Amino acid sequence: MRHLIRLEPSGHEFHAREDESILEAAKRAHVPMEHGCQVGACRTCVARLLGGHVAMPAGTNLSDEHIAADLVLPCVARPRSAVLLEVHPDVGPIFGALPLPWTD
Ligand code: FES
Repeated sequence: MRHLIRLEPSGHEFHAREDESILEAAKRAHVPMEHGCQVGACRTCVARLLGGHVAMPAGTNLSDEHIAADLVLPCVARPRSAVLLEVHPDVGPIFGALPLPWTD
């Protein structure tokens, strides 16, 4: 099954299958997304889930605090519905008082 993925604030849209990561689908659609390791370790791709559902594997490099704040890693997140993601190169304003994902 394929689901519509929309990125904010860019407005980019593409479809992703349930058996692929959102980053893999973005690459196939030639939609630019920041990324590094592609295995859930570096957190370069971090985004906030604004709507929809994703499946995230266990053992990623997100803290419980990050997960509680709806942060996801598109390089390993697989869609389970239509998904709206907030993706921004400067995550500080988005993630507010949370520790920046790459500084702890
Ligand atoms: S690219 Fe490294 S965690 Fe997603």
